[in-house]
Amino acid sequence: MDKLIIHGGRPLNGSIAVSGSKNAALPILLSSILVDGPVHYANVPRLRDIHTTNKLLNILGCEAAFTDGDGNGVRAEALSLVPEAPYDLVKTMRASVLVLGPLLARLGRAKVALPGGCAIGARPVDQHIKGLEKLGARFDLDSGYIVGYCEELRGAEINFDFPTVGGTESLLMASVLARGQTVLRGAAREPEVSDLANFLKVCGAKIEGIGTSTLRVEGVEALHGCAYSIMPDRIEAGTFLVAAAITGGKLLVRDCPADKLDSVLAKLEEMGAVTEKRDEGVFINASSPLLAAQVVTSPYPGFPTDMQAQILALMTLAQGSGTVEETIFENRFMHVPELGRMGADIRLSGSRAVVRGVKQLTGAPVMASDLRAGASLVLAGLAAQGETQVQRIYHLDRGYEQIEKKLLSAGADIFRAKDN
Ligand code: EPZ
Repeated sequence: MDKLIIHGGRPLNGSIAVSGSKNAALPILLSSILVDGPVHYANVPRLRDIHTTNKLLNILGCEAAFTDGDGNGVRAEALSLVPEAPYDLVKTMRASVLVLGPLLARLGRAKVALPGGCAIGARPVDQHIKGLEKLGARFDLDSGYIVGYCEELRGAEINFDFPTVGGTESLLMASVLARGQTVLRGAAREPEVSDLANFLKVCGAKIEGIGTSTLRVEGVEALHGCAYSIMPDRIEAGTFLVAAAITGGKLLVRDCPADKLDSVLAKLEEMGAVTEKRDEGVFINASSPLLAAQVVTSPYPGFPTDMQAQILALMTLAQGSGTVEETIFENRFMHVPELGRMGADIRLSGSRAVVRGVKQLTGAPVMASDLRAGASLVLAGLAAQGETQVQRIYHLDRGYEQIEKKLLSAGADIFRAKDN
């Protein structure tokens, strides 16, 4: 396993470019199953989860691979589909459950290992199943696999119990080839959901209401191949903005989708950072001391849960006492005890963390427990006095393309080493 070794205290400067969005690329690549013909993707981030997605697609009979050396182009084509997604793949990436809808739409059958929980929560898929049943699918649970089948999928009116990102994506993908109209009410409005909807439209799907909580889909006979570029990753961008803020630096985050990060930019401004939207990205100047604030995570366009661990790390060094409330996942504070080992003063009660700013953090060996918790430990290490070793960074490699190279190029003292 690899680890990251960081010597903190160096303000970030210069610029960092954002890669394509992991959480848009996953459902969009899996949608290749729905398409008759080849799809050429651009700006696909080279991440563990993307390699897992390509592997899963190939197992399902949809050829998928990076096309250009170490570039970010992927070609995918559904040639001879089979309905089964094996457990040993699904257990490494929960998003694999998103193949249910496309397989039912194309084959009328799907057998997908029930994704277990993960570090941040149980993460059930009841909303996916309930919605797909409304479209006419039937499901059994057979030794840890969800087995689904349908004569054909027919349009229906679906009301989500809450704006589930994956649930909305599942039902979008299933409804584009269903017979008749489907209305999704209470749908998630995350930009990654809109990127998926835009991709499906380029392939010939008929979708109205993109970006709103009511999506209307008119089923079509077939989708055709196309070329499509994945949107930039707003969470990676937010993570680098916080990296500049926590080190008191000045940084241009290139290709930053500023219009999809308003809640994060507003919070950074409230804490005293100065941000400026430019054509090439967002410039942040965080040379003045930061002030504590109140953060509550909520569905888009609220403050993203995927930025919770990162803003909490920043809060540990802000002046005064702030709070961070996690309303989306039931166990997304695994970074707190690790930050505590670096000298942070954080008190947890239920879904709320009370953070009292300290003068400085001290480098220490810490362990990543999940993707965004790992990111918050890297951020803390960039600011801490002395050396921080972040272990189990395979969690980070799921969602950040070459994070240490990008941070190094902006002046951080960070390198990857083998963790024997
Ligand atoms: C997506 O997960 C993202 N993953 C997550 O990003 C992100 O945190 C989450 O949306 C919320 O924005 C991908 O896009 C691959 P949900 P997803 O369905 O689809 C519960 C990261 O760090 N729920 O909106 O699983 C669920 O347990 C990852 O990049 C049900 O109860 O999110 C959770 O508590 C982490 N039943 C909440 O809803 C369901 O059927 C939000 O889940 C579905 C979800």
